[in-house]
Amino acid sequence: MTFPPRATITGTGSHLPEEVLTNARLEQMVDTSDEWILSRTGIRERRIAASDEAASDLGTRAACHALEAAGVDSRDVDVIICATITPDMPSPATACFIQHKLGADRAWAFDISAACSGFVYGMEIARSMIAAGSARRVLLIGTEVLSRIVDYRDRSTCILFGDGAGAVVMEPARDPRYGVLASRMYADGSGWEMINVPGGGSRTPASERSVRERMHFFRMQGRNLFKFVVRVMPDMVRELLAESDRSIDDIRIIIPHQVNYRIFKAAAERLGIPTDRIFMNLDRVGNTTAASVPIALDEVVRDRRLDPGDFVLFLGFGAGLTWGSMLVRWGR
Ligand code: ACO
Repeated sequence: MTFPPRATITGTGSHLPEEVLTNARLEQMVDTSDEWILSRTGIRERRIAASDEAASDLGTRAACHALEAAGVDSRDVDVIICATITPDMPSPATACFIQHKLGADRAWAFDISAACSGFVYGMEIARSMIAAGSARRVLLIGTEVLSRIVDYRDRSTCILFGDGAGAVVMEPARDPRYGVLASRMYADGSGWEMINVPGGGSRTPASERSVRERMHFFRMQGRNLFKFVVRVMPDMVRELLAESDRSIDDIRIIIPHQVNYRIFKAAAERLGIPTDRIFMNLDRVGNTTAASVPIALDEVVRDRRLDPGDFVLFLGFGAGLTWGSMLVRWGR
């Protein structure tokens, strides 16, 4: 092992609720059409959690799959990090519920709130802890029950979001050629108004007014966010490639936060790559915020689209505004 140790992903897992919310069903709820949703976003359906399921329930299932894939016993996990904007409750952390359900007695546990960048931010925290020697086995989960904060009267947002969870185990790489090669994280709080849930925090606690004014649901400036992502996505890719002395042709697959087919098409054009080098499953799962990157990664791994030695690029962007990228050479 090299020093400082290089972190790598040793197991992936995901869990999607059974209930499917199709565009046809949304047509009965708001003034929209399957044709509009498909052509503007690329989304056909999303999954919706059962009414008795919370973020920790989905997250625990995804975590079990990831631990199994990594061959790691829950009692050997050092830290559990949960990225979510739909925690089971404001306090305690959803990571603590997951820790308890897994019986991960030795692990300390906390949540991070970075919306759609939450998972990539979490990978950077895990990488730093492993490099610092303060943790050997990090269980990182992205889990969301966004259907609880989506306004099903607002056609501009309710068509986008779905529920689900994904997880990875990160450990020091046995082979120093593998693991995280480069990463870059960003935030710009001046863009907070582009997407937020205004009610329920210390600025506007829950009240009759906050409920009446639907302040506990997502509010979004879709067009501005669209422009933001189209701009930062190719910039992040170029920056990481330059930093790690790689070319776009070295990258086997780009796994971005699943946001909009048209955004990915524009980014692929700007990068001069075919659109299929950017992984997409948003047609079937929609935008699952912090869960979207690990759900996508697990699908890529299960489809055997990554071999040891392949380069894979992760991209997150969303509320905050926050954005971040990570280049990983796949392998243990
Ligand atoms: N069905 C039919 N018409 C609709 C719908 C709908 N579901 N939603 C909006 N429209 C209408 C609008 O009212 C508008 O009508 P108007 O021209 O008469 O005013 C028209 O369609 C165009 O609206 P735009 O908002 O300009 O549509 P756009 O092409 O930008 O698509 C979309 C909207 C899909 C939301 C797009 O802007 C987008 O994907 N933005 C990025 C959103 C995003 O990335 N969010 C998440 C990032 S952060 C996170 O994941 C937490």
